[in-house]
Amino acid sequence: MTDYVRIHEVGPRDGLQNEPRPISVAKRVALVSLLARAGLRDIEVGSFVSPAWVPQMADTDQVMAQLPKVNGLRYAVLVPNMKGWQGFKAAGGVAGGFDIAVFISASEGFSQSNLNCSVAQSVANLAPVVQAAKAEGVGIRGYVSCVIDCPFDGPTSPAQVVDAVGMLHELAPMPVSLGDTLGHGTPESVTRMLEAVCKAVPPAQLAGHFHDTGGRALMNIEASLDLGLRAFDTAVGGLGGCPYAPGAPGNVATEAVLDLLTRLGYETGVDAAIIAQAAKLAQELR
Ligand code: HMG
Ligand code: MG
Repeated sequence: MTDYVRIHEVGPRDGLQNEPRPISVAKRVALVSLLARAGLRDIEVGSFVSPAWVPQMADTDQVMAQLPKVNGLRYAVLVPNMKGWQGFKAAGGVAGGFDIAVFISASEGFSQSNLNCSVAQSVANLAPVVQAAKAEGVGIRGYVSCVIDCPFDGPTSPAQVVDAVGMLHELAPMPVSLGDTLGHGTPESVTRMLEAVCKAVPPAQLAGHFHDTGGRALMNIEASLDLGLRAFDTAVGGLGGCPYAPGAPGNVATEAVLDLLTRLGYETGVDAAIIAQAAKLAQELR
């Protein structure tokens, strides 16, 4: 197993989507540009979701148009349905080499709250999106939310997570990020969940996405590393949460994860000094 760990920076999307007031396009671009300078290879920069639902992510097309092009750096945006795909295409996402991220929940309650439909319907809504993305050569990443528990349905079983990952993989092979949306996971519950998923999917195709409650996200990352995961989603400055998951805290901070990985002897290729500047900027945006 390699000692390289891939950091997916999600602060400009998962972080800023939860800010109480909208952040200007210029500030969003400034944040992403600084993150790009830090050597990150994956940055999620926005969403093509309903602006009535998540006004903070409106104007993602304008953000995309102003981002610096950096060799080896992939930008991604969330797309929940064909309307979002049309927005992505109109924004030049295909020609610009952007990736998309598609997202479902392991639990029905969060699916209804976040996407206004059942899990099965959300997968059906994604089928033509995935087909179109494949036809256009666009990279696709999947998310499964509420892999430990759900604010509406309570604990999520590992089998539910395995099923949800399977639903995404029926659409297409894709790397899948497993979201502890509420940050309630412990090393034990995360290990139980991952052991089940890793029986079906190699850990190299999985990422850990830990929101941070009570400081357990870093412990959960260590538990995931032990099971072979080598990709984690983080948000600079610990920005974040999910507006449709009451009680969801911010994502684990990029700077804290870098610190942990360095101490454990992993490489990330990310410049911690520039991330520290970006964390300061992220806090000033709020
Ligand atoms: P809906 O109201 O059921 O949609 O929302 P609809 O199909 O009934 O359409 C209603 C209106 O919305 C129509 O407009 C559509 O055109 C429009 P009208 O005719 O009334 O003028 N519409 C759209 N507009 C822009 N972009 C679109 C779009 N789709 C429909 N894509 C919908 C369904 C999916 C749109 C809504 O529920 C939604 O936007 N949900 C997204 C919520 C969200 O972004 N949540 C946060 C991201 S997920 C997350 O944070 C978790 C994650 O980090 C992992 C983890 O931590 O677990 C990924
Ligand atoms: Mg999240």
